[in-house]
Formats: sequence, structure tokens, C-alpha cells
Amino acid sequence: MARQLLATKSIAELHQQESSGNQLRRALTATQLTLLGIGGIIGTGLFVLTGTAAANHAGPALPLAFIVAGIGCAFAALCYAEFAAMIPVSGSAYSYSYATLGEGIAWFIGWNLVLEYLFAVATVSAGWSGYAVSLLNDFNIHIPGALSSAPFGTGADELHIVRTGAIINVPAMAIVATIATICYIGIKQSAAFNAVIVAIKVTVVVLFILFGMSYIDTANWHPFIPPNTGQTGRFGWSGIMGASGVIFFAYIGFDAISTAAQETKNPQRDMPIGILASLVICTVLYVIFSTVLTGMVSYKELDVSAPVAIALDKYSGLSWLRKPLKVGALAGMTSVMLVMTIAQARIFFAMARDGLLPPFFGRVHPRFRTPSTGTVITGASAAIIGGLFPVKILGEVVSIGTLAAFVTVCLGVLVLRRTRPELPRPFRAPWPWFTCIAGALVCGYMMYSLGTATWWRLLVWTAVGVIVYVFYGYQHSCLRSAANGAAPSARPA
Ligand code: ALA
Repeated sequence: MARQLLATKSIAELHQQESSGNQLRRALTATQLTLLGIGGIIGTGLFVLTGTAAANHAGPALPLAFIVAGIGCAFAALCYAEFAAMIPVSGSAYSYSYATLGEGIAWFIGWNLVLEYLFAVATVSAGWSGYAVSLLNDFNIHIPGALSSAPFGTGADELHIVRTGAIINVPAMAIVATIATICYIGIKQSAAFNAVIVAIKVTVVVLFILFGMSYIDTANWHPFIPPNTGQTGRFGWSGIMGASGVIFFAYIGFDAISTAAQETKNPQRDMPIGILASLVICTVLYVIFSTVLTGMVSYKELDVSAPVAIALDKYSGLSWLRKPLKVGALAGMTSVMLVMTIAQARIFFAMARDGLLPPFFGRVHPRFRTPSTGTVITGASAAIIGGLFPVKILGEVVSIGTLAAFVTVCLGVLVLRRTRPELPRPFRAPWPWFTCIAGALVCGYMMYSLGTATWWRLLVWTAVGVIVYVFYGYQHSCLRSAANGAAPSARPA
């Protein structure tokens, strides 16, 4: 059985699979991929979580936390770029680990990518709902709290789920349904829609930086690293590390573009450009943005759901920017959901094609050429989860699942350099030993910095995954059927 779990799929077979059967439309360019990356990155992390991270963990040293998390992501991004250029197939880290580390690990990663993308759509929809309600309030349109917040939350121990008294988060569900419909219709339309939204959100971020800069009071930056309170992760250097774990969420998304490899015109060249360019652009924006934010307002005031709005409220000369900023934040979160929905449907597509999930997950729409059933399943599940749970519970679960995938990708690049040195690598991660091990260590440390409750949720999710694999994936794996000389028992319809 161990040998079966370690069975790998040949890269030639992966390529061959991509060029036959369910062909998705090759429409994306390097620029569109970079925009998809930025579309997937800037969102709830920047507009909501910066405040929590500054107020509870890093203080004015928040930009340093962004740099630490950015470094971890950069290592992982280099590894993703090497893989994505070498194996430009849909399925991202799932497909890469299938070619290197075996079916068992590939399943684990694929299952964690579901945790990342599907739950990220749900998380961001809950954040979106908060901003939408607030913007509507500015126009005197009031949505009752019972219909715009989560009916479930955590108890005092952070672990147990309790009722909040609300009924359901309707705006969160509505936005997910809208996004899923756009994705169902087609990748080209989705990329164009994404480009417009990215332009809006980057504009408000840049406006905030440019106009906020002149309101900086340097006294807010002192002490730059507030002394540790005696509790690990509360200020001091351990606080900076703790904050990096929290704001890691802000970087999630650059990896999502690798799931669109099969729809990219020239994946070998364009994938590395798209992944690295989007990450670099966002890191620069985050560091400058957080420097300005903590300079405008004392970090102690930032532990609120809309920290950026607090900064604007403080200065009457900036009140004109308040509504545009909310619109930009909403646009930002919308494009994050768009990218994540696209990515999730393609992960389902890849897993179904391999027989690890039922064939209907991989069905491609005859006219739109999109993984239509996977998109519907993603939209329906994310709408339900986003309608029921708050950002707080969902966000950390997304981070831990993503980090687990990052660690595996970093190690996978190293394994493949040794086991398959002859494979053509259009893009090579520089200093592979250093890059891969440092990437795995930094991402592993961020996993460690997430709380016990999050680890328990990861454990439960993994246990469900093992059950699905044992009772379905293992039985229907196309790789195993082929090895045993039998006709594959599952093919996407
Ligand atoms: N990076 C994405 C966000 O911050 C998930 O919303």
C-alpha cells in the first residue's frame, strides 16, 4: 500500500492529458496573469487584518511583519514558478506533488488547496458583507444585523462553535453566487472583469498612500517595536513574527494563478512572470501602505473591522476618500473571490480527471469551455460556509491549509531536482537548497504561530479527507487502474 501511495504520475502523461480530451480555452497572457495574481492577493488581508495585526502583535513595526511574510511567500513563489513552468497543467501544487511526491501526498495537498481556495472565497465574502453593509449605511440603507452577520462564532476558548443569534449572512451569500455565475460563463470574461476591478482597488490603495502621507505624525512610530508584554506574540520581536502569521492571509492568492496554467497562451514564460510580478507589486504596496497607516493613527486604535476607514475619519481633509475607499475595498475583495473561485474549480477539475474525485467535478461546459460543475459546487459550498461563519474562524483555517501546501511545494522542488534532474526547467529557482529549505522553514514557522484551535480544525479537515480518499480516491485512481492494466474506472464526463 505504501508503494501505491508513493506512486507518481509521469510528467509526460500530465502533458499528454492536458492536450487531449477536456481542453480549456488558452486565452491568458502574462499581463492578465499578473492582474489575476494582484486580483487574488489584495483584499481582506490588507483592508481588515492589518488593524488586528498592528494593534495586537506588531505595533508600528507592522511593515516588518509584511516583509517577513513576504519573504516566506517569495521563496514559495520561486518554487511555484519553477513547478508551474515545468508542469504547466491545471491543478497547481496538487499536480506538482502528484508528479513528485506520490498520490497520497498529492491528495493531502489537493484537499488542503480546497481548504485554501473554497474557504478563502467564504472568508472574503464575510469580509465583503461587512464593508457592503457599512457603505450602504453611508447612503442610509440599513440591512438588519440578523441578516448580514454569521449565525455561528467561537466561544471564549476559541475552539467551540456557538450561536450568535443572527440568522444568516445574506450579502455574503449573494456576492458568492454572483461571482460563481461570472466564472461559469467563461475565463476570458472573468479575466476582463478582473482587470477592471484590480485597477479600481490599486487606485484606492495608491490614493490612500499619496494623500495619507501628508498626515503622518512621526510620534505614532515611537516606539517602533513596542516592548513585549510578557506574552509570546504580543509585541517585541515575537509580536512581529505573530503578526506575520496573521497578515500572511494578505498574500494568499499569488499561487492561485498557477491553477490557470492550462488556459495560458505561453505558460513556460508567462507563469513565472505572473507569479513573481504580482507578488513583488503587492509586497511593495503593503509595506508602504502599512507604514502610512501606522503613521497616521496610533496602532492602539486600529483593532477594528475597518481600520483604514478609522484613519480617514480622523482627518477631515481626507473625508472625501472614505466612500471611494470602501468601494475600492469591496472591489478588492470581489476580485479575490473571483480568482479563488476560478482556482478552486480547476483543482476539482484536475482531481476528477485523475479519478480521485467523482467525474462530474471535472465536467467542462460544452459551449463556455469552463469547468462548469466544479464552479457550481465551489459557489454553492462557499455561499453556505460564508453565510454561516465569520471571518475570524475561516481566515486562520485558510492560512494553515495554504501554508501546508507551500511547505510541500518547496520540498517538492528540491526532491524533483534530485530525482529528475534531466527535466527541462524553463524557470529555475535560484540557489535551490537555500530557497527551498528557507521557504519550508519560514512557512512552517508561520503554521506553528497559528493557534491550537486552528490546528484542531486542520486535523478534522484532514481526517475527512482521509476518509474520502480511502473510500473513493484510492478505489478510483486512474493512475492505479492504468498500472494494474484495467480501464480507468473514472473519467471526467
Ligand atoms: N490575500 C487575500 C485577501 O487578503 C486572500 O483577501
